[in-house]
Parts: sequence; structure tokens; C-alpha cells
Amino acid sequence: MPPDPQPPLPAGPTAHPAVQAALLARDPQGALLRARARHGPVFTLRLFGVGPVVVASSADAVGRIADADPVGSSAGRARRGVLPQAAAGSAFGSDGEEHRTVRARIAPPFDAARVAARQEAMAAVAAAHVATWPTGRPFRLLSRTRTLAEELFVRFVLGVEDDDRARAVVQAVGRTLRTPGNPPLTPPDRDELRPLGPLVHAEFERRLRPLRDLLAREVGDRRAGRRPMGDGILGHVAAADLPDDRVVEELLVVLAAAQEPMAIALTRVLDRYARDPGLVRALEADGPDAPLFDAVASEALRLHPPALAALRTLARGEEVAGHRLPAGTDVMVPFPLLHRDPAAFPDPHRFDPSRFLGGPPPPTFLPFGVGERRCPGEPLAGVELRAVVPAVLAALRLRPLSREPERAVQRATVLVPQRSGLLVASRR
Ligand code: HEM
Repeated sequence: MPPDPQPPLPAGPTAHPAVQAALLARDPQGALLRARARHGPVFTLRLFGVGPVVVASSADAVGRIADADPVGSSAGRARRGVLPQAAAGSAFGSDGEEHRTVRARIAPPFDAARVAARQEAMAAVAAAHVATWPTGRPFRLLSRTRTLAEELFVRFVLGVEDDDRARAVVQAVGRTLRTPGNPPLTPPDRDELRPLGPLVHAEFERRLRPLRDLLAREVGDRRAGRRPMGDGILGHVAAADLPDDRVVEELLVVLAAAQEPMAIALTRVLDRYARDPGLVRALEADGPDAPLFDAVASEALRLHPPALAALRTLARGEEVAGHRLPAGTDVMVPFPLLHRDPAAFPDPHRFDPSRFLGGPPPPTFLPFGVGERRCPGEPLAGVELRAVVPAVLAALRLRPLSREPERAVQRATVLVPQRSGLLVASRR
């Protein structure tokens, strides 16, 4: 007997894959909400350059798919499909045993107590940055929070303590990762879309070279005893028996993961404070350790999650919300839909921090993902928010230029405010 044919993937939009990719990139929130309204909580998007991706926004998808890594699903494989630059040997792009080894190597510097001890020092770095931010003319908050997030990470987590060296690494990260504006499409991989792929890849490699050299020097100096190993990621990676290019590969992905979502989170939380002087007064009165601060931050990340989704490739067949999905299916469990599900968040489009004051959040609140692949940077992100947001608001009054928070555009795996958080600041 012939084997059972594969069940068809769930229905979804029928527009050409290039159109679907462009619509998702331009307005991910709107595109996902429209598709859910039309097709229900589980549907298939067909995206140019990526292929079919099943979007599973039902509550049961969280446990069955997003939290099933590594037995039932693979995050590394799925992420590499969307972001070819996520190396297969990195914490972001690896799977199974290899992932556990890499993740264990970078875990100690993220320890919650270790990062909490650096909150005051982070606030001082933030205050120094804020003193240089422009006033009286519009500027893009996101480009400032990026540089700040990079410096905090390079100094306090990577472990580059020397001022000049830290500055050099921050500048090299900026040159490597930054692109003008917010291009909504991921650069193609070396082997894709010839001749564009090889050209873009060569340009990326050219920009990367100074950063590669600096990271290799930091690791080499630690290995040769010219610098103390320290308790940052560099020390842990230097102590491992790995060739230089592998070390750089691991560090680069962590640097990218540390910078963009963190900068977006800082921008989104500051934007919410900028829109409500009452919240700023409460922060001044009670400080960032009061429950209201966490509630404001959570509500900002609920409505504006910096990451698009938990991405997984199914390692086995799975049934979600009545749909049978075969092994090998690429699935996205999308935060913008889970976070605006009225069953979990009544009146879901309204900004209301008090929904996070009454107890633990619903299990579908996942700005940092879930399970084995949950973000290791979450404790660091909490400390950075508590260090940076009060430092900015103590120095500046912020006035956003848009009436509503900017809608997000999709850029690879992150959701960036459309105009990078355009606002005007004045000194207090
Ligand atoms: C507010 C800021 C941040 C947000 C919202 C965020 C969000 C996320 C999300 C959603 C994932 C995927 C989880 C999943 O697939 O289930 C992730 C993974 C990851 N994040 Fe973050 N992140 C943030 C900050 C950071 C920082 C500061 C670092 C520092 C290095 C970091 C490092 C990573 C790494 C290495 C992974 C891959 C983890 C793995 O697969 O084991 N993130 N993050």
C-alpha cells in the first residue's frame, strides 16, 4: 500500500509569496491579525525566500510546539531558515546537545544576581550617554538605545573592562550590525538569490572583519595571560577549547541577540512613559523596584514585543487546534497574536499596566520565548530597563512625534518601531 499522503498545510492567504513577505514586513501586527480573522488561529503563510510557515497562535501551540524543543521541535534549524547569518554552532542557531553545550558556556555571566550587582554601574553609563543625546530637535531614540545597549553588554556581560577597548568593540559592533533606516527584508545568504546573495555576504564579511579581529584579540590576550580571564562571556569562551573562528561565531550571534531586542524594548518602554506624565511621577516617587515599573514594562512588551515569534521546525508530527502538522513543518508561534488574544487579555489593544499587577501573567505572555530556548538575557534585560529608564527620565522630558506608538515593521526576527521611535527631548 502507498504511504499515507502528507496532510495539506492549514489554509492561509493566497497572495504571491513576495506579496505576503512584503505585507508581513511592512505591518506584521496587521497582517497577522487579518490572517487570523480570516483563517482562524492556525494558518499558513507562504513567504518569499523562506517557504511555507505555519502560524500557530492557539494557546495549545505554546506547550506542544514552542516548549517542545529539543524532542518535538528544533529552534536552531527554524531560525537559520529565517536568518541565515545565525551560525549553526551558535546559541541561537544550534540544536540538541550542541545547543546545550554552547548555552551552558555562555550562561554564567547572565546569572540574575551577577547582573543585578551591576545595576548602579549601568545607570551611570546610561546617564553619561543621555547627557550627549540631542535636545530641541527630532531624533531616533532607537539608534541611541542601540549604542547604549551595546556598551552595557560589551562592558558588563562580555567583560571588556578597559575603556578604549570597550569603545572600539562597541564601534565595530555598530559598523557590522547597523544598516541605514529599517530595511524590512533580511539580507540573503551567500548561496541565495545569485548574484545578490554573494555580493551582500561579501559586504557583510568586509564590515565584520574589524570586529572579528577585536574579539579574537580579546580572547587571545586572555588565553595568553595578558589579560585576566574575568567573569564575563569572553573569559568563559576563552577557557573553552575552541578555534578562533568558532569563538567569534559564537560571540557574534550573542552580540546581535543582545543589542537589537534590548534596544527595541528600551525604546518601547520609554515611549510609553513619554506619553504619560503620571507614570513618570510614579516612577520618580517609588523607583524602579516598585511593582508598577515591571507592570509598565510588561504591558509595553505585550503590545510591542521586540521579537516576532518562537520559531520551531517540527521534529515529529503534531496536532494543534485540530490541524495535523507533519514532521519538518516550520512553525511560528507569534507573540503579536498571543499577546492580543482577548481570551487572555480582555480589551487587548488597550495599554493597561494594571493587568500585570494582580498575579502571574497568562502562560501566553511570552516576550522572552519559552522552554529550553527561552531567552537567557531576560534577567539582564530587566536590570537594564531598571537602570536605563529612570536615568533617561531623570535627565530628559520626552515628546514622541506620533500620536500613537509607532507601528512595528518586521526585520528578520525582530519587530522595530517604524520610524525608530522619533521624538524630541528637552532637559529637565
Ligand atoms: C528585552 C530584551 C530581549 C527580548 C525581548 C528577547 C527575546 C528573545 C526571544 C523571544 C528569544 C527566542 C526564544 C524562543 O525561541 O523561545 C530569544 C533568544 C535569545 N536571546 Fe533574547 N531577548 C532580549 C534580550 C537579550 C539579551 C540582552 C541577550 C544577551 C545576550 C539575549 C540573548 C539571547 C540568546 C543567546 C537567545 C537564544 C537562546 C537559545 O536558543 O537558547 N537576548 N530572546
